[in-house]
Amino acid sequence: MDERRAASYPFIPTSTVPPVVESADGCTLYFSDGREVIDAGGGAVAVNIGHGRAEVAEAVAEATRRVSYVIPPWVTEERITLVEMLREKWLPPGLDRVALVSGGSESVDSAIRLAVSHFTSIGQPERWKVIGREVSYHGTTMTTLSAGGHRSRRRGFEHILTDFPKMPVADAEGLEKVIESEGPDTIAAVIAEPVIGAAAGALLPPDDWWPDVRAICDTHGILLIADEVMTGFGRTGRRFGVDHWNVVPDILVGGKGLSGGYAPLGGVYTSDEVVAPIAEVGAGMMFFTFSAHSAACAAGIAALTILEDEDLVSASATKGADFLVRLRPLEGHAHVREVRGLGLMIGVELVEDEESSEPYAPTAGMAARVVAEALRRGVWVYPAGDGNAPDALLIGPPFTISEAEMDTVVTVLGEAVSTVCGD
Ligand SMILES: Cc1ncc(COP(=O)(O)O)c(C=O)c1O
Repeated sequence: MDERRAASYPFIPTSTVPPVVESADGCTLYFSDGREVIDAGGGAVAVNIGHGRAEVAEAVAEATRRVSYVIPPWVTEERITLVEMLREKWLPPGLDRVALVSGGSESVDSAIRLAVSHFTSIGQPERWKVIGREVSYHGTTMTTLSAGGHRSRRRGFEHILTDFPKMPVADAEGLEKVIESEGPDTIAAVIAEPVIGAAAGALLPPDDWWPDVRAICDTHGILLIADEVMTGFGRTGRRFGVDHWNVVPDILVGGKGLSGGYAPLGGVYTSDEVVAPIAEVGAGMMFFTFSAHSAACAAGIAALTILEDEDLVSASATKGADFLVRLRPLEGHAHVREVRGLGLMIGVELVEDEESSEPYAPTAGMAARVVAEALRRGVWVYPAGDGNAPDALLIGPPFTISEAEMDTVVTVLGEAVSTVCGD
């Protein structure tokens, strides 16, 4: 077994290959060496309905028994039903043109293709730049890395990435300046995460940032893309992150929670206005082979049904507020700068010196070390951070997490920070 395990991980030393995850239920992962771990990171902040829901597995099996595969433009029962559910109960008003894909990077990549194709179709091919934030993560294809500002994930590829402009994280006037200096007629889209996830550890914008960015995009005829891959489908306590600021983007993308982590699934949601010019010139959008796979759509239908029937989006809001209160005392620790978040997307930012907010050197890998220590003690959280805040722990558990599990997470994280960072 050890050899088989190691052989499946070509890029890391054999000694660090993790044990096999044998099963999972609710918020708990069961490993082959007998250990139990609380999945407080929801994997990569994807598991929102909890593990081990038999009805999702049965829906996937049933869809697979009936139709294993047909090309994405063809219709299956699961494809229609999922799109209907999304339109009727989930998507913001006007965003009822849906393209389903297999994950977050594919959805952001497709959204960028859509925005550029929109402008090419209306005779403005010079509008192709996509402005992203200096600190952000939008995926790991070449185009999504180009739009994002995650320095460590871009490293080694900078020379072949498209040189898209970057805007400050929290200052809408800064966006205005970037647009002026680049030339408004060269910009196709602005992209942002409602709450910054992997690159910063649940960093919220100032209250007026999203409305201001919406207004600036309108002034210059620029499409606004909300990257809800991490924040979507209830993670922040509303259906979508932008709902907190009453902003409707032109294009919204979401993966992760759409299937609750049970199948690779993502989506691009937009309006007639964005799509119509593309259809008029007969351009269309090439699909990926596995886009809108019926088995993945079946998982999506079952996951959304559970979210709706068990009122789990509200649970994310109330449990998130409760969890934040329980975690807050960690701010008393000498190396914790801030505990922050929205719903069940919570970040704990680590620093070298709490008083001066001096971060650790990025090469120290402190977040990864604290995550490893917490895992040893039975709790998984997701390592996050980059740039000026290189070390953060991202907490994004299933919305079914219990109070007892929250308390264990708080205790273990406190111990892990003390052990790795010192008191
Ligand atoms: C905001 C955001 N966008 C895009 C992605 C990329 O998604 P995926 O890893 O499913 O390709 C992520 C993944 O963490 C994300 O958090």
